[in-house]
Amino acid sequence: MTVQLGDIAPDFTQHSTMGDIHFHDWLGDSWGVLFSHPADFTPVCTTELGTVARLKPEFDKRNVKVIGLSVDPLEDHEAWSSDIEETQGAALNFPLLADADRKVSNLYGMIHPNADSTFTVRSVYIIGPDKKIKLMLTYPASTGRNFDEILRVIDSLQLTAEHKCATPANWNPGDDCIIVPSVSNEEADKLFPKGYVVVKPYLRTTPQPTH
Ligand code: BEZ
Repeated sequence: MTVQLGDIAPDFTQHSTMGDIHFHDWLGDSWGVLFSHPADFTPVCTTELGTVARLKPEFDKRNVKVIGLSVDPLEDHEAWSSDIEETQGAALNFPLLADADRKVSNLYGMIHPNADSTFTVRSVYIIGPDKKIKLMLTYPASTGRNFDEILRVIDSLQLTAEHKCATPANWNPGDDCIIVPSVSNEEADKLFPKGYVVVKPYLRTTPQPTH
């Protein structure tokens, strides 16, 4: 089974470094980031988990719960945690799922057999408070992810969930946004009181409404 954008994130119960997780209950009303890594005691994964631990306050600020996963057992996760703290200067401060039976990996399609028949690839799922999948990313084992980019996408998703706008290429918070094409100019006059520029009838830019 695989999941697609707009699907309800599959629910599950699985062991983690912070006790058993009933996923939908654990998410509550928060946004969520579920991400997999190939294996414990590997160098790139060690840097990724340290990075996410350091960024935890940024996820908290955005009301986002983060949770990692690999197909290693809980004992390995626990033994590896001290290496992460020692080498990355940040202790794990979010749960790591121990998906040794591949329950969650299979539900989400995190194992890509032509890349590796055993281990999960580097998947990322951003899940909204409605439990729907808002973003999916798939990276190979050899490339560590840019978690600043994940935060940037969350900023865009949270903005565009509240306002009838989209964000352009390489957008960062504070940059101008784009008014979605389904909004007429008459409606835009009301919705975007800061004004807007009509570059083309289908391309109208406006200052970020929440900045
Ligand atoms: C790593 O996390 O360092 C890694 C994992 C699997 C293959 C290559 C690198």
